[in-house]
Amino acid sequence: AAYEAGDHESFMHKEMLEQPAAAARALSGRLDERFGTAHLGGLNMDARETRAIRRVKILGCGSAYYVGQMGAALVEELARIPADAEAASEFRYRDPVIEADTLYVAVSQSGETIDTLLAVQEIRRKGGRVVGLVNVVGSAIARECDGGIYLHAGPEVAVASTKALTNMFLGFALLALQLGRVRDLSIADGRRLINGLTRIPAQIQEILDDEAAIAAVAEQLSEAESVFFVGRVRGFPVAREGAQKFKEISYRHAEAYQTSELKHGPLALISPAVPTVAIVPDDELTDRNVGALHEIAARRGPLVVITHEGVDLGEVDCVRIDVPRNERELDPVLLVVPLQLLAFHAAQRLGHDIDKPRNLAKSVTVE
Ligand code: G6P
Repeated sequence: AAYEAGDHESFMHKEMLEQPAAAARALSGRLDERFGTAHLGGLNMDARETRAIRRVKILGCGSAYYVGQMGAALVEELARIPADAEAASEFRYRDPVIEADTLYVAVSQSGETIDTLLAVQEIRRKGGRVVGLVNVVGSAIARECDGGIYLHAGPEVAVASTKALTNMFLGFALLALQLGRVRDLSIADGRRLINGLTRIPAQIQEILDDEAAIAAVAEQLSEAESVFFVGRVRGFPVAREGAQKFKEISYRHAEAYQTSELKHGPLALISPAVPTVAIVPDDELTDRNVGALHEIAARRGPLVVITHEGVDLGEVDCVRIDVPRNERELDPVLLVVPLQLLAFHAAQRLGHDIDKPRNLAKSVTVE
């Protein structure tokens, strides 16, 4: 049957709502409760090769790059392997040093993004090993890689990626779990994460069920000329993705910043006309994040706070959106969902073509 938006006003809306089912597919058959690990048969690496990895380098463009940053954090936290993400569009232009004990990971929904494809070719030409996190089966990037993890998100039509991004995060969680378990991650931690992963589809649904309340917040944000999105460590790529979505479809200026860096510059811009969306999960940095909220409020900057139930934000004047709690490492995949809804409803309020924003393409296949 043809893939159509059906009763939804747009593909983006349909695809956001498909996330619980898509997430369940990404996990299906890949979790091993008994050994507290993941099974990713398509990686084509044995235990010896897996243990030899000294570094992980992730490459992608746009939302895939930001989720790559979330993935790098997962790999460092769970497998304790140094990891980072880089924009694939920049990578090959700096004549990168390719190392045999680095695992390169290419992330792409379409599998056809030319910048990511050329990065893969550069790595392979220089003798590196690349695995793909790709949604479209048999796509160019999937074919060029040494192995891979298919995302099983199903077709995604809207330019603004939602369910594919969620499944990319889950793909990274599975990869990090598998890498971790052949190294030092304990079976207890492995089981703890598996338990967290299996709760994610229903927890995404809980957030989607709050759509009406989040839409009301989006309507307020849509009136601002400029919006800051701030977060720290795990929350920073979430803020980057939130700002990206917001600017892509609402055409409002949105800027992501590390909350910790606000005082080193952008605090000068905070005023009643410039709202901030702050990512404040219940984690090691909650108190510091709450401190920053007070600094923003003191400059009379309107605040929307994405947080967890029970987090004490003090007396700060803000609109609060709580997401369900999971294991801290997995928080980003839930924190990002309200940001999709904020961008979507701001754009809808402004009357934009949500699925085909001006000047953008779903996949950029020419340089
Ligand atoms: C384009 C789209 C973005 C997307 C990026 C990467 O720029 O507008 O939404 O994140 O390509 O696409 P890919 O298919 O490689 O994930």
